[in-house]
Amino acid sequence: MKAVKIKEGIYWVGGIDWNLRNFHGYLTQRGSTYNSYLILDEKITLVDTVKHYLTSEMLERIGSVIDPPRIDYVISNHVEMDHSGSLPELMKILPNATVFASPKGEAGLREHYRENWNIRAMESGTVLSLGRRSLHFVLTPMVHWPDNMVDYMPEEKILFSNDAFGQHLASSERFDDEYPLDITMLEARKYFANIVLPYSKQVQKALVGLQDLDIGLIANSHGIIWRKHVAGILKEYQRWASNETRRRALVIYDTMWNSTEAMALAIQDAFESRGYLTTLLSLQTNHISDIMTEVIDAEYICLGSPALNGRMMPTMSAFLTYLTGLAPKDRKAIVFGSYGWGPRQIDEMAGILSDSGFGVVAKEKIKYVPSREDLAGLKERISALLI
Ligand code: FEO
Repeated sequence: MKAVKIKEGIYWVGGIDWNLRNFHGYLTQRGSTYNSYLILDEKITLVDTVKHYLTSEMLERIGSVIDPPRIDYVISNHVEMDHSGSLPELMKILPNATVFASPKGEAGLREHYRENWNIRAMESGTVLSLGRRSLHFVLTPMVHWPDNMVDYMPEEKILFSNDAFGQHLASSERFDDEYPLDITMLEARKYFANIVLPYSKQVQKALVGLQDLDIGLIANSHGIIWRKHVAGILKEYQRWASNETRRRALVIYDTMWNSTEAMALAIQDAFESRGYLTTLLSLQTNHISDIMTEVIDAEYICLGSPALNGRMMPTMSAFLTYLTGLAPKDRKAIVFGSYGWGPRQIDEMAGILSDSGFGVVAKEKIKYVPSREDLAGLKERISALLI
């Protein structure tokens, strides 16, 4: 396996995880990559590593350029093990190398690996000379762990951004001008929605820190590298982090005997009649991580579940746990569902949403099977909310 040149003397030497389908609960239908970068300079430097089971692939790619033990510096931008997992094996062949990390990164690496590596903690603004080129460290705490940092190389206008701007996407192509842009952007949006969303405020702060940099290439640590659409992905991050919504509603539901589904359709009809772009998402056929991709710009989140043993259905419970953890801000919510003898699930769902900052604007319940009149009344009440 070969390295891929991204600039003169700078190579992608990562690992491609073609078969990854689940990244701690995030459905990764297109697999992923862990991008490492090799910089040939007076100090030979490796930026980030890969997941432990792809270490030999990374070493083979490095070996296509130089003998791996020649590496002097290893930059660890993020402790999470998809980027640091190769360190134990790598450091066995680099006993004299220096590892550079943020102060929290240094502590995290020591706590994770309990090894006596030579780790230097770098503060924001610190510059590391590699010889002809340099790396300027910018700490980006909570995007999305406390230890995160990014590195800017002004001589080549490269931002080594780690998780930021990444996508879970396995491909033989490395650059955004080689791969369908709509897929790359969709996967970047899914990545933001499922990983970065709770830290939108920190993202905005980080973007301010980066705004004065002349960035010609974003060497991120997952998926496709940005070189043609740098301004485009920066703009999208700004938009997603600003929590900007549009006239859009999601109707997310599970159903047992189609009564709650009938309510979902009536609610969809109500939103459409008021000019909302409305998406119907059954929890039986859509993965929660795909639903989150749609949540990003939706003004209304409507959640429906029938009563099951006096509670909401487990699919809805799982989605609510996931949704409230990812914590989209300032959204309006509608809860609905059918019931037989006790509609406790409605207040249960509404309570979780209210406690998490959603504005619950309607709670709709219908006993057993909705009649035509029931559904017409439901549509009318929801439409009336949207004037
Ligand atoms: Fe790609 Fe937060 O690790």
